[in-house]
Parts: sequence; structure tokens; C-alpha cells
Amino acid sequence: MRTYLVTGGAGFIGSNYIHYMFKKYDNEIRIINVDALTYAGNLENLRDVEGRDNYTFVKANICDRDAINKIFEENDIDRVVHFAAESHVDRSIVNPEIFVETNVLGTATMLNAAKKAWELPDGSFKEGKKFLHVSTDEVYGSLPEDPNAYFYEDTPYDPHSPYSASKASSDMLVKAYMDTYKFPANITNCSNNYGPFQFPEKLIPLMIHNALEGKALPVYGDGKNVRDWLYVEDHAKAIDMVQEQGRLFETYNIGGHNEKQNIEIVQTIIDVLRESLDDSDPRKEKLTYDLITYVEDRKGHDRRYAIAPDKIKKEIGWEPETMFKEGIRKTIEWFFAHEDWMEHVTSGDYQKYYDSMYGEKLY
Ligand code: NAD
Ligand code: TYD
Repeated sequence: MRTYLVTGGAGFIGSNYIHYMFKKYDNEIRIINVDALTYAGNLENLRDVEGRDNYTFVKANICDRDAINKIFEENDIDRVVHFAAESHVDRSIVNPEIFVETNVLGTATMLNAAKKAWELPDGSFKEGKKFLHVSTDEVYGSLPEDPNAYFYEDTPYDPHSPYSASKASSDMLVKAYMDTYKFPANITNCSNNYGPFQFPEKLIPLMIHNALEGKALPVYGDGKNVRDWLYVEDHAKAIDMVQEQGRLFETYNIGGHNEKQNIEIVQTIIDVLRESLDDSDPRKEKLTYDLITYVEDRKGHDRRYAIAPDKIKKEIGWEPETMFKEGIRKTIEWFFAHEDWMEHVTSGDYQKYYDSMYGEKLY
């Protein structure tokens, strides 16, 4: 039975990946999920898998060398899928250091531990072991508005935010391990994800949450920045396909040719929410485009991201399956069915975060 070590599995994409993997492989695999449970990690995301014999949760920081080495010593790990990171650009602008710590040093710790466990005396690696580093398209910087300009795997790195700079650094470390030691790894650079379990600091869940509360919807700058949105389950599938069918040492870009301006996303959310609410629901009356509030732009705001997923399609046969209209409906349905989840994650420290991030912008 293949054993996976998943880092950051209590976060948004990690938890969706774990659900996807158990749905696909059921009892054929074993998953060990290592997560420090920061503000973004939530064991509620994994309630459905908690009782499984082939699932283990370990609370540990990926920077904690002893804790990570111990997991490798006690388990014969076949696959590492490395999600754990600080992931929010706005937070990275306020507090860059934790991004360097977790994203760069944490990745170095993971690489070192895997190398130590998998390396043979002659410097080669045990057969079949693989490390997948989950990264972002933001490492490539910002594209011009020219609709024919895309990010390819060989687009030079040009990160702008502390978040993307830290992810770029972690990618470089993985590349260095592959080049120096022939360490068996892949890197995936994916576009913006959306779907169930996404923390309401990111655009889509934040807008859904505010809209249902009748609160202002803060759109940065002119609202015309473009992101390339991918339904999270399609990302989970791509990660698995790259790890099993991709060529080792290669980078694969993952994205859906689904470019949208932020303002279109916010309007679609309002439209779909209005369609979903009964006329008798008191929230419906307040839920109009009047909630849209243009606020001061994000510092260093990248204008446009867009992935060319040609390589992953050609080599591996992966394509996004969930059209945006369908994906956003599924996401909104999920949030309706999990209002308690939203309530839990927005109680406590969330309010402090929201006030410090948006207070001055909105008032
Ligand atoms: P997230 O913020 O929702 O989850 C991150 C998880 O990592 C949380 O469970 C958190 O507790 C854990 N974590 C943070 N610091 C840790 C540490 N020091 N030790 C152990 N665990 C720690 O992030 P996400 O949106 O699920 O992103 C996951 C990965 O995918 C990240 O590497 C991110 O850069 C990458 N990515 C995200 C997107 C996106 O749109 N969200 C797109 C492309 C790539
Ligand atoms: P975000 O979800 O933070 O992802 P990223 O910055 O990693 O792409 O933001 C997506 C886009 O939405 C980005 O252009 C910034 C914008 N945005 C807003 O306009 N208002 C908001 O409140 C947030 C969180 C983001």
C-alpha cells in the first residue's frame, strides 16, 4: 500500500486533495497529514475522513526538523505532496517574514527530510519515491492585457509580492535539489483556485460571506485585474495525474483558460446568490450591486495571470472539467449547506483580521 505524506492537508486545497484521493483510491492508499493548524488550517475540513484506518493526522510545523524526520523514520513514505504554506498575498504585504519562514525554510526542511529518508549509500534514491511541490502561477509575475500572452513553464520567474517571492524561492530550492542530487520531484504551478473549504480571506469566499451578511464588497483598484480561476477538485486531480504520469524533474502549469476580471466574479456571485435565495429570505433585499465598493488598490497588485496548460494536456491528458458557471454554483451551494463552517471560521480572530485589513479601506 502506497503511503502519502501530505503537508498542509487541513487547509483549503490540501483538504480537497485528501477527499479526492480517498474518493479515488479508497483503501488502496494511506495518508499522513501534517499540519501546524495555523489560522488557515481547520480539522473541520477533514471530519469525513477522520475515522478511517488509513488516515493519520499529525500536528507539526514543517519547520520542525525533528518532528518531520521522525515521521519519515516511523513510516515508509512513498509520496510527499507539499501544500503547507502561508498563502495569502495581503497578509504577506503586512507580515512578510512568516512567509519566508514557512514557505522557504519549511520547504527546505521537507526536502532535507525526504532526501535523508530516501537516499541510498551511492547517492541514488530508493525506487518509486516522489515529492510533489505545489506552487503558484504568481511566481511568473504579471502579464500584459494582451489576450495572447500566457504563462508557460519556461516563462522567467518575476515575483512581486512577498508571497510570490517566497513561493518562487521554494520552487528554486526544489529545482536545486533536482539538479544537484537528482532528487525525484515535480513542481506544479497552478492558477487561482476556488471551491469548498476556502478561507474567507480570498476573493470568492470573502465576497460570498459579505454578500450574505449584507456587507460592503471591497473591490481593489478598478476591479479589472484578471485571474484564471480553477475549481479546486480539478487541481487535486491534476496533482495526482502529474505525480503518477508526469515525467520526473519536470514542472507542469495547471490552469483552466478561465480568465475573469475581479468585477465579473463579484457580479456573478451576486447574481447566483440572488437566484439561490427565496424571495422571502430577508437577505435577498440587500443583496444588490450597490454592495460593490471600490477601495484603495492592493500594493504592487499584479494585473493579470493566465496559464497556458498545453504541456499538461499534451503529456498527461489533463484538462479542467468544471466550467466556471457550474463551479461557482457548486461552491455557493456548498457554502449554503455549511453556514456553520463559515460561522466557526469567522468567529474569534477573523474579525480582528478583517478590521485591520479592510477598516481603513472601507471607512
Ligand atoms: P491555505 O492557507 O488554505 O492552507 C495552508 C495550510 O498549511 C493550512 O492548513 C495551514 O495550517 C498549513 N500550514 C501553514 N503553515 C504551516 C507550517 N509552518 N507547518 C505546517 N503546516 C502549515 O492554502 P491553500 O490555498 O490550500 O494553498 C495550498 C498550497 O497551494 C500553497 O502552497 C499555495 O501556495 C498553493 N497554491 C494555492 C492556490 C490558491 O488559489 N489558493 C493556487 C496555486 C497554488
Ligand atoms: P486573492 O483571492 O487574494 O488571490 P491572489 O491575490 O492570490 O490572486 O485575490 C484575487 C483577486 O481579487 C486579486 O486581484 C485581488 C482581488 N481582491 C479584491 O478585489 N478584494 C478583496 O477583498 C480580495 C481578498 C481580493
